[in-house]
Amino acid sequence: MELFDVYPLFDINVVKGKGCSVWDDKGQEYLDLYGGHAVISIGHCHPHYVEKMTEQLNALGFYSNSVINTLQRRLAERLGKVCGYDDYQLFLINSGAEANENALKLASFKTGRTRVLSAAKAFHGRTSLAVETTDNPKIIAPINANGHVTYLPVNDLEVWEAELAKGDVCACIIECIQGVGGIKLVDEDFAQGLQAACKRYGAVLICDEIQCGYGRSGKFFAHQWLGIRPDLITVAKGIGNGFPMGAVLISPDFKPVYGQLGTTFGGNHLACAAALAVLDVIESENLVDNARETGDYLMARLKEMQATEKHITDVRGRGLMIGIDLDMPHKELRQHLVYNEHCFTGCASTNILRLLPPLCFTKAMADDFILRLERAFAAVG
Ligand SMILES: Cc1ncc(COP(=O)(O)O)c(C=O)c1O
Repeated sequence: MELFDVYPLFDINVVKGKGCSVWDDKGQEYLDLYGGHAVISIGHCHPHYVEKMTEQLNALGFYSNSVINTLQRRLAERLGKVCGYDDYQLFLINSGAEANENALKLASFKTGRTRVLSAAKAFHGRTSLAVETTDNPKIIAPINANGHVTYLPVNDLEVWEAELAKGDVCACIIECIQGVGGIKLVDEDFAQGLQAACKRYGAVLICDEIQCGYGRSGKFFAHQWLGIRPDLITVAKGIGNGFPMGAVLISPDFKPVYGQLGTTFGGNHLACAAALAVLDVIESENLVDNARETGDYLMARLKEMQATEKHITDVRGRGLMIGIDLDMPHKELRQHLVYNEHCFTGCASTNILRLLPPLCFTKAMADDFILRLERAFAAVG
């Protein structure tokens, strides 16, 4: 059987990881500023994570959601404290798309409405409702194009308010820092105005923190830079440091109903062990502060570089989520970074480099990256 060929691949077989590095099958080390698409939060193969996962696997890998799972309860308690949402409730699933899918369902159950406002260039996943709220017609299959969603420009509060005022909107869903959209930041006035308008017109505010959350922005959640408290918060990626997991944080205004949501694998024992180990390390190694400090440092070095590097037209982001706009397609530069400088980066659109390193990235690694990037720019001319 052949693999279903939907991914354009780098010709590299990654077989090992440690901290902010991965190695290929020939023993070549790569500096990882991609984090497997923002998934690696505490670093590859962190010893505490490996120990806790191994311990759990030797005890019990999986049992269903029909019995008490104290690991889920511990995770809810720990996460609530760490992120400042002690009074919220936690629903666990297996991916980011599923988190958004369930958040949108909750919003619809609560309001009885079916219309959603989403941002231009948003990415929320590839399942039915999640993909419908994603502003990319190429990945919305006809069966998912059900007319629930209106896309609106981010930071243009007036147009969002005008749509909300029609009184039929069930939810507004936003990424406070757009990832796939190219590291576009939501501003404070928009976020606060949108929260107030959602309240006024009876709509639910969902913050998709799947890429920008879990410490990456230098606060636990990116929306915490903006002084808002969404009704629903979706997370995935960094929560399990590579173990597939997603979650919805649900405000106390939502009352759970038996059977209304459910999943076979969500919140299984091994996933919870991963998420608990991630929180242990985030706390003991102060990774949220590190993301802010190292991110500020890297951003300053990149801005310095922008002053002399003609191909850089903008540098923006928060913490360890940084976009570099180029005046040329990113393809050649990224290929040079991977094959010659042995450095993984992400990208967005055709001309944006997207940096999403593990949250344990250091200033020395940032300096090292700057050298590699300078050499890559020199090589592509
Ligand atoms: C902001 C955002 N939301 C949702 C998703 C979907 O997550 P998953 O691929 O785990 O379904 C992603 C994935 O890249 C994302 O970046």
